[in-house]
Amino acid sequence: MQHQIQANISSPRKTWKPKYHFFKEGHWLNDPNGLFFADNKYHLFFQMNPDDTIWGNMHWGHAISEDFISWQHLPTAIHAEPDGLGYIFSGGAIVDHQNSSGFGDENHAPIVATFTQHSKSEEQVQSIAYSLDGGESFNMFEHNPVIPNPGIKDFRDPKVVWFEAEEVWIKSVVAGQCVHFYRSDNLLSWTKLSEFGEDYGAHGGVWECPDLFPLVCEESGKEIWVLLISINPGGPNGGSATQYFLGDFDGRNFKPFDKQIRWLDYGTDCYAGITWDNTPNIKHERILIAWMSNWLYANDTPDNSWRGAMTLPRKLSLLKTDEKFVLRCFPAVSFTSKLKNEVNISDLKKPISVPEAYSIHFTLGKNKDVSTLTWTNDLNEQFTLTLDLASNQILADRTKAGFIEKGFASVAAMPLELIEGENVKIDIFVDTCSVELFVNNGASCLTMLLFPSLDFNRLTVNGSVSNSNSNIDGLNLRIID
Ligand code: FRU
Repeated sequence: MQHQIQANISSPRKTWKPKYHFFKEGHWLNDPNGLFFADNKYHLFFQMNPDDTIWGNMHWGHAISEDFISWQHLPTAIHAEPDGLGYIFSGGAIVDHQNSSGFGDENHAPIVATFTQHSKSEEQVQSIAYSLDGGESFNMFEHNPVIPNPGIKDFRDPKVVWFEAEEVWIKSVVAGQCVHFYRSDNLLSWTKLSEFGEDYGAHGGVWECPDLFPLVCEESGKEIWVLLISINPGGPNGGSATQYFLGDFDGRNFKPFDKQIRWLDYGTDCYAGITWDNTPNIKHERILIAWMSNWLYANDTPDNSWRGAMTLPRKLSLLKTDEKFVLRCFPAVSFTSKLKNEVNISDLKKPISVPEAYSIHFTLGKNKDVSTLTWTNDLNEQFTLTLDLASNQILADRTKAGFIEKGFASVAAMPLELIEGENVKIDIFVDTCSVELFVNNGASCLTMLLFPSLDFNRLTVNGSVSNSNSNIDGLNLRIID
């Protein structure tokens, strides 16, 4: 059995381009937008600056993929109208199967994109555009906006879902620190239904990028409405983060089950995530992708040749433990085609040589002890994960991990809700500048960016770690190429 993987000889870094995460060479990107699945392809639109690698002049960029690993970049999908209603901010897209909008015909379901336009005078209104060629090109609706500004500064990020019980479209739009719900028969004229947010959830910053959808829990068969709300600032570990609510939606009001604050991902770098429309098995699982950054430092991260990447696409499903539901979030990607090598490493006494892109998988014993994973490089920079089952938390420390400007030098803490007497399964996906950690198949997760001055080419593991596949000591390492 091979125990050591030869890493490249390190050299001072100039670039940190991800190997298996989505980014756009030469451009800035932030939120995912307009996600829909059709003709076997996942369409990903995103906030993009066509001219620069910092935020500004927002357009919708476009890419497609069949497997979430190889992405084909396509021409800019929706162009800003700086002298008109404005820049194209975030929003969603849906496949209008019944042609309720009238943009298509019986044989061609139009794709309708819903987004905010932000004008030079900073007015935000809700607009739409439609595609008659499966999402390749979009026409601006000539009577935009479909929802004018109601006198609220931050009024944006419309996301539409089909409400089957009454056969209507429901749109969520954030307004300051709450969300407004609207309904429509045709996606063109909208009636306001209700507001949600006062006295619920975290309010450390403005609410952004809502996504309301039903999800059936596989185990219990119960349908629950999930509401994702991103918030900036006010995240649990500083800056931006995404909270979620679980409750009921009756076609008018969203009623959460309780007042608990829940976070989708405890890391610093998982923001503005929304879900794909029209995916297979959408009733039981939705697929989400998020922007892997944080408004605290998004414009200042190193590497000017691109800026902004997406997280791995993740399956959202409902997990029931006792009487409580948890939104589980786990990578929706199979790396089989990218798997270069897979080894089980049982000798954890010496550091493991690691390349730039790989995943590791292991189980922590039932003993309530503390395990640490420390990544280091030839400059003695380090990143440490402390998996502390004694106090039920995980700490991710990047205070000595290279780039530490603009609040980047942080220690993120994630509480763990563990089941007494059960093993804890850990899956970690590492790319050139990111680490995504999943506990118990996504019952908790944590995403962090890292910009070390040289590759983190050594990993030291301390603690009782066993291989999730075989239950023998050690861990499973998969090299992704
Ligand atoms: C979230 C966000 C959205 C807005 C977009 C602008 O990251 O601030 O609320 O529509 O980015 O790029």
